[in-house]
Amino acid sequence: MSIGGKRCLAPFSIGGVSIGSPVVQAALSGYSDRAMRVLARRHGAAYSLGEVLLDKFVAEVGTNRRNLARLAVADEEHPVGGQLMGSNPDDFPPAARRLVAEGYDVIDINFGCPVKKVLGRCRGGYLLSQPATALEIVAKVRDALPPHVPVTLKMRRGLDDSPESLDNFWTIFDGAFARGAAAITVHGRTVKQKYVGPSDWEFLTAVKRHAGDRVVIGSGDLFSAQACVAMLEQTGVDGVSIARGAIGNPWIFRQTLALLAGDPPLPLPTIHEQRDMLREHWQLSMDLHGEQVAGRSMRKFAIKYARVHPEHLAVRDAFIGVKVNDDWQAVLARFYGIDGPGRDSAADIDETADCDSSG
Ligand SMILES: Cc1cc2nc3c(=O)[nH]c(=O)nc-3n(C[C@H](O)[C@H](O)[C@H](O)COP(=O)(O)O)c2cc1C
Repeated sequence: MSIGGKRCLAPFSIGGVSIGSPVVQAALSGYSDRAMRVLARRHGAAYSLGEVLLDKFVAEVGTNRRNLARLAVADEEHPVGGQLMGSNPDDFPPAARRLVAEGYDVIDINFGCPVKKVLGRCRGGYLLSQPATALEIVAKVRDALPPHVPVTLKMRRGLDDSPESLDNFWTIFDGAFARGAAAITVHGRTVKQKYVGPSDWEFLTAVKRHAGDRVVIGSGDLFSAQACVAMLEQTGVDGVSIARGAIGNPWIFRQTLALLAGDPPLPLPTIHEQRDMLREHWQLSMDLHGEQVAGRSMRKFAIKYARVHPEHLAVRDAFIGVKVNDDWQAVLARFYGIDGPGRDSAADIDETADCDSSG
């Protein structure tokens, strides 16, 4: 790395919470449950965020196992952030306090979700068009929590490409820091853009230049370790929030750390390394959800894990049929028993996948 990866490996802080390296696991609705986060942390992510949760859901979660699993935090995964979404500023404080009681170290507020239903309910990305309400939410969450718990935001670069949208971005960005926000993650796409077209890294550069010492985490198009290093180098952001690039690919965290340390690129995971990761992830998911739900949840990860197997299409098809533990173990026995090199899947990463999602 031309600028010497060591600078990029620098830890940073979100308020009083130390983040050991710039390599972060993003909030991912439908994915970043405790199992995915623990795996990410064990395999190199310095910090991770849970999937976005509706404020009212959190405040009124009850005792149902399935619902409680969505809030669950493991002892080994600190620091971990919990993310909230809603429309009414008064609904946020009880939810934020509940997440802190569950063990979350940082409370993040979602101003990025582009899903139509969410926008229609004046939540997520919609609030980028309502700076006064967005800032009221930030202030109320900040006031509701003890000072040692940082409050952070996730923003897209605007609702759309209009000058008004850009003004609103800066109003929320500066206003949130003025109200005590400790860091802001910026996804370089507009809400209108959803996932079409690139994330604007030049915008991220401008944001970090404007922010100075204030902490900015970058998001968008981080599909490889090389891309993560490039974002850090090109934009100067304090951390990279790896999202789609981490689904079924926990190796990306160590691969990024290696490049940042100035080491040669790590080899692709071998078939046995893939098997071990799949076993670990499955076990974490079973522990969290029980066998039936783990079966459903892990299918969508497994389809992505399959990309680095030399027989990727056959493996993918086999995983699609998995329901319970025996099915999972049978796929591992059939395709992962004999070791060999992994497949380079860089060419077939589907960058438009999962567009109907939350940030
Ligand atoms: C399936 C999926 C779920 C997502 N869920 C969330 C979420 O819950 N909260 C959030 O702030 N962003 C969410 N995002 C947005 C990502 O965190 C990230 O900002 C976005 O995917 C851009 O990064 P990428 O191009 O590297 O994937 C989600 C994205 C995807 C694809």
